[in-house]
Amino acid sequence: MADLWGGRFTKATDRDVFRFNASIDFDKRLYKHDIIGSIAHVKMLGEQGIITKKEANLIKKGLKSILLDIDNGKLEITPEHEDIHSFVEANLIDRIGDVGKKLHTGRSRNDQVALDMKLYTRDELDAVSELLHELECVLLDIIKQNTDTYMPGFTHLQKAQPVTLSHYMGAYMEMFLRDSARLIDIRKRLNVCPLGAGALAGTTYPLDRETVAKDLGFDSATFNSMDSVSDRDYLIEFLSALSTIMMHLSRFSEELILWNSNEYQFVEMDDAFSTGSSIMPQKKNPDIAELVRGKTGRVYGDLMSLLTTMKGLPLAYNKDMQEDKEVAFDAFDTVKDCLHLFSGMLKTITFHKDIMEKSAMMGFTNATDAADYLVKKGMPFRDAHSVIGRLVLKCIEKNCAIEDLSLEELKEICPDFENDLYDAISLKTCVNRRLTKGAPSEAAVNEAIKRYEKILKLHA
Ligand code: ARG
Repeated sequence: MADLWGGRFTKATDRDVFRFNASIDFDKRLYKHDIIGSIAHVKMLGEQGIITKKEANLIKKGLKSILLDIDNGKLEITPEHEDIHSFVEANLIDRIGDVGKKLHTGRSRNDQVALDMKLYTRDELDAVSELLHELECVLLDIIKQNTDTYMPGFTHLQKAQPVTLSHYMGAYMEMFLRDSARLIDIRKRLNVCPLGAGALAGTTYPLDRETVAKDLGFDSATFNSMDSVSDRDYLIEFLSALSTIMMHLSRFSEELILWNSNEYQFVEMDDAFSTGSSIMPQKKNPDIAELVRGKTGRVYGDLMSLLTTMKGLPLAYNKDMQEDKEVAFDAFDTVKDCLHLFSGMLKTITFHKDIMEKSAMMGFTNATDAADYLVKKGMPFRDAHSVIGRLVLKCIEKNCAIEDLSLEELKEICPDFENDLYDAISLKTCVNRRLTKGAPSEAAVNEAIKRYEKILKLHA
């Protein structure tokens, strides 16, 4: 147990209080960012003449050696310190003596932790962007290979109109591209540096906040010291974006679980991405997709937890804010893991194209196109809808598809039908006539592919 505030106190901290108050168990993962922040701070202290250049260099060297030793396992982060900030400072003083006590000049743990969390979160955000990009590349491959793989599109989980696998996957591509764009947007707002805000009211030292900000890759220093130490909006925005990513992954998982079921058989998950049963030898279960779906609730919970923590906090720093870390780390770890595994699962999945196509041919997915056929012959759409309705009823009675009826049978329902109907309602025609922007035709999907390649920078 090592306190930072001895002078004012007449008693040592109660053991349970120390344990309850401490955050080192979970904030130790901030060690690199804490040290990098301290190095930038101390460099500036030296340049501004707040401490001597010599002192600054000694502290910098000490900090670098701590970082190296933690990185290569020589120095263990131990729990007798309250948090990672006090651990690093105490270790520095052990290493270089009293000069180490100058590190915390013009700084508070409040602006220090605000900085550490921002630096850490920025790296996590970049890592999530990278993983999203990988998933988008896997999707693009599937899209490029399946512009003529026909399958049913659904509404209410009932077969509706035919689409292609490319088009279907394109819908998920759009979701993930929006997720990527959201991250770029959040990063801009995150990227202002809180260091120099002090405990809450700045400092009396002539700190050069802008230089520290630039040094640490920020666009500028923050604009209000009280806001700087109490702002966790960037975390809430990021957790919200992560929740949306999980919502997308969860919907996608749900589709794949259905498609992988004995009833659908649209896909088969690779053995390496499936699990078996301890009792039923025939089973091959889509556990990865189910876990991704399951973990979505957990990430939503992390967001709700942080929103609730923040909702009643007066300005400026309050210890409640220490609760931001475990939920944020949990969400970061969970989403990265899910994205990584989902990409692997999708890359190795087998699409049963024949079964998808057969499924599209059954269930009257071409009924709208049959109605459009009559409209082109001059019939008002409402009448055409009714004619095709009767036609479908007849097919249900005969247990066949529209195209299985002979021309005579078709003409019994409506004399406008001609031989050209069969071609007009083939899957290929149904899909490729849908030429409007964003529709499933090969031509429209090829346009989409060009756009995806440009966004993913896979194309000049
Ligand atoms: N462990 C603390 C946190 O995560 C660091 C800041 C401590 N500041 C303080 N005034 N007690 O928020």
